[in-house]
Formats: sequence, C-alpha cells, structure tokens
Amino acid sequence: MFGTPRHHYALIDSTNIRAKELALDGAAHGTLVTADFQTAGRGRFHRVWHSTRKDNILASFIVRPERDPSEWGGLPLLCGCAVAAAVAEVLARHGKRPMLKWPNDVLVEEKKVSGILVESGMGSAWPWAVLGIGINVNQTEFSGIFASTPTSLRQEIGGDQVPPIPVDGLLERLAKELNRLYSLWSESGNGPIITEWLSWSDFIGRSIRVQQEGQVLEGNVEGIQIDGSLCIRCADGSTVAVYAGDVTLRSTVEGRIA
Ligand code: BTN
Repeated sequence: MFGTPRHHYALIDSTNIRAKELALDGAAHGTLVTADFQTAGRGRFHRVWHSTRKDNILASFIVRPERDPSEWGGLPLLCGCAVAAAVAEVLARHGKRPMLKWPNDVLVEEKKVSGILVESGMGSAWPWAVLGIGINVNQTEFSGIFASTPTSLRQEIGGDQVPPIPVDGLLERLAKELNRLYSLWSESGNGPIITEWLSWSDFIGRSIRVQQEGQVLEGNVEGIQIDGSLCIRCADGSTVAVYAGDVTLRSTVEGRIA
C-alpha cells in the first residue's frame, strides 16, 4: 500500500534524497518519506523546490517497478494523473480544474500548483524509483524567480478568505490515487496511463517551446508516445520525439492549430 510505512521529518534536506537512501537500504515498495520543511528541495533541471513550513505536501514514495525499464517513462505521467485526481475535488467546488503539462507539471489556470521529480536506479538487483511530489496546498505568498508562475490550491480557491486545506487528508487521497494508477501501470503498462493523462490535458495541438541542453525546439504537440515521450511537429513538417526538456506553452490564442 502506498504510504506505509511513513517516515516523517520536521526538517530534512530533501525527501527525495532520504527516500533514495532508504530505497538503497532495501525499503519496501510504497514506503513514504514526508517533511514539514526541506532545506534543499530538489526540482527538475537541478532547480530548487521552495516550500514554506508545514503549508504544503512534500512527499517521496519508494516503488519497486517490475515492468521493463523501457516503460518507466510512464511513471512521471502516472504521478501527474494521481496529483490531478487528488486535487480535482477541492478545485471543482470552486469551478476550477487541474491541467497537466508534459511530462508532469500540474497547472491551475496555467500557474503551477505541483511539481514532480522521479529519480530511479535500474542497475541493481532490486531496482527502485522515487516518486517525489510537491503540492502547494496552503502557501499564499511566493517570492523569488520561478520558471513557471507558482500558485497553491488555497490561493486558487480564495486565499486568506478561506480556511486552510487539511494537508494530511489530501496526502491520503494522493496515496490512494497513486495506488490505483500504479496497479494499472503494473498490469497494463503505459497505454492506459497515457489515456488518463490526456483526459487531464489540453496539450494536444498546443504550440510549445522546448528548451533542452544546448537547443530550443518549437512546434505543435502531436501526441504522447507509448514510451512516455512527447511527439512534436516542427514548422518544417518534421516530427521530433522529446524525452526531456523544459516545456513552455505559447499563447492559447496564437497556439491552436486551426
Ligand atoms: C519540479 O517541478 O521541478 C519538480 C519538483 C519536485 C519537488 C518535490 S518536493 C518533494 C520531493 N523532494 C524533493 O526534494 N523534491 C520533490
């Protein structure tokens, strides 16, 4: 079961770092590491993940995938689906819906409410992955320079005008959704995960810019491929598969394919 056992820290460098240590020490599938505050929260592309103390979800789940490593590109996608499903109810009461941006940013009205960092080790006799999930739940002030404009669930539903959202209740919901989606992935692979991912996204047909080490690609999103990569069509008509990169959505009005 996802979330058992749970190791909680008032203060830690990063729940992903601790979860990786536990995974290498033989921790069981489903083990959860959480924290009230991280001093070195890790984001994608070596960015720092900032979160105010006790306001948000900072969680890393250890998994022991049994599927072929060629299919592990589905793990970030299934995490995005789990977060979207977990936060949808809170937002729906206020007429809002989470949207996924490839590979696994969770956005509300194009602002980022959650980030996911999946780290893995396939080489050992007992392969592991750490599903690192940060959800901005109650934080209402964000300072600094961000690649994507940050927001939180509470900020989206009324900010200081509404009571704080119970963080542990949402974490429980997240663990249930991860359990459901991970079972689906274990049984059937990436296909049904991609179908569910697409139901949380308006990404297909959008005009995007992808920043990768050393190059920038621009094009329209054609789809998500079975290995979890993104397929984009460039202006010269060629298609390119993107396995990693920082995606920026271009304007909704300009960006749609007619
Ligand atoms: C990103 O969008 O860049 C990914 C951010 C992932 C942040 C979470 S918070 C819990 C876990 N521990 C970390 O150090 N990082 C992930």
